Amino acid sequence: MSEDTLEDLLAFVEDELAFATSHYNDSYLDRRVSSRMRRTQCETYEEYFEVLRTDADEQTALLEAMSINVTGFFRNPDVWAGIRTILRNVAGSDDEITVWSAACADGREPYSLSMLAHDDPAIDASTVRILGTDISEPALETARRGVYTESRTVDIQDQLEFLDEYDQYVEVGDDSTYRISDDTKRNVSFERHDLINDDPKSGFDLVVCRNLFIYIDNEYKQPMLETIAQSLRSNGYLVIGKAETIPPTLNSQFAVRDARLRIYQREPTPESSADRAEPDASR
Ligand SMILES: C[S@@+](CC[C@H](N)C(=O)[O-])C[C@H]1O[C@@H](n2cnc3c(N)ncnc32)[C@H](O)[C@@H]1O
Repeated sequence: MSEDTLEDLLAFVEDELAFATSHYNDSYLDRRVSSRMRRTQCETYEEYFEVLRTDADEQTALLEAMSINVTGFFRNPDVWAGIRTILRNVAGSDDEITVWSAACADGREPYSLSMLAHDDPAIDASTVRILGTDISEPALETARRGVYTESRTVDIQDQLEFLDEYDQYVEVGDDSTYRISDDTKRNVSFERHDLINDDPKSGFDLVVCRNLFIYIDNEYKQPMLETIAQSLRSNGYLVIGKAETIPPTLNSQFAVRDARLRIYQREPTPESSADRAEPDASR
């Protein structure tokens, strides 16, 4: 009975609130709904479904809860050491370096990329263009503002200490706010992009797409990774989350470069010489 109600509730979210619940795995969706049930003091799915149907604020709250926007600066520092090496490799061979932070949440990941480029004497940061995209407009609004506030659970200073002299890239306010500097922002642009439904991009040297696939139903991982593969130039790099894997059907498209850090390189394709000629970080 209750499980049926959860299914009805998820169908309502998909049909009426236009959030594609069918793309996400069931246990993840159940956890998000249960968390909203605790916040609204509803004991059953039925009770919560009644609230959801009639309360527009709760609809917004559930949609935000479902878009799992947890992120951080330099999340998993060991991976960022790997990303630094990739940027150096690409910098040696390209006039312009184009990077796509796909599913970038509120922008801390693309700003980490920009700080990394500025911080590295082997990289000319003026040649680096970073595009941050996400499905969530509220997350993108925060990203464009570039102002982050420390909370009880998030130690921003600790995250930024990945770089010895991070204070060149952020202004730290008295009220525990961290404002990304104009120089760091200049390399980064943001736009909305849905990895399941929107078109691929093209010509990127590096795509960083981390900590989204863990929430996605298996059948949608493949089309999302195909979108990413098409967006990379031949030999372009892909970094996924440390708990994520590439489905075996796509193994032929990506060579493993560092299995532990989940770093891959796109295998050359016959048409790849054409896409290498057109780097495109703006679309
Ligand atoms: C856990 S965050 C990951 C943020 C960042 N990549 C990181 O690892 O810190 C997952 C992000 O995926 C976004 N997202 C969910 N479904 C998406 C989709 N279909 N296309 C693009 N982004 C999506 C969410 O809005 C959320 O901001």
